[in-house]
Amino acid sequence: MRDSNDPAPIVSESTGLPATGERNVSTLSDLIDYLEGLSGRTPLHELMKFLARLEIDPRELAPHVRFSPRGYVRNLVRAGPWYDLLVLCWENGQRSPIHDHVGSSCAVRVLQGVMTETAFALTPNGRIKAVGSRDLPAGTVCGGQDFDLHQVSNLQDGEAELVTLHVYSPPLRRMGTYSLNDHDQVQMPMFDEFADAAGI
Ligand SMILES: [Fe+2]
Repeated sequence: MRDSNDPAPIVSESTGLPATGERNVSTLSDLIDYLEGLSGRTPLHELMKFLARLEIDPRELAPHVRFSPRGYVRNLVRAGPWYDLLVLCWENGQRSPIHDHVGSSCAVRVLQGVMTETAFALTPNGRIKAVGSRDLPAGTVCGGQDFDLHQVSNLQDGEAELVTLHVYSPPLRRMGTYSLNDHDQVQMPMFDEFADAAGI
């Protein structure tokens, strides 16, 4: 996984998108305007740059901050043909599955709390292994794409909640999920009912 301190993130540049140059994206509405104008997949480094520069008014996203004891909640803020913008809410102890991001650029900004990200890699015999874990405080921007494997968790003390802002381009409709115990990768569908606490 990459974060905003990485000097040269590896990204897919084969998008055919017009260069965005130094486009000024500083507010949530600026970001949505940019995303609405997309005609193809956004390179990961562009999404990470925009999320890092974003000046977020918590009141704008407050209607999308919804938790569930059943699992982490994907709250849809806005969607278009080439993007999904979501707020994910994690009660203490909740985790995502270990998953990939095939076909999509996925950037994340930690809005509240501390996000624990554990990265995984494929092994020669077709299993997976953990290759690192880190705790990312509020304000951190990170990203992954395609066959980057990771798991996101809220593992802080007490009742600490975690809120994260995610941009996917294009929308991540299916992702592979992985288990440390099972040999086979399992394809998990991504549903449009993002407000449902489906746990994916
Ligand atoms: Fe992810």
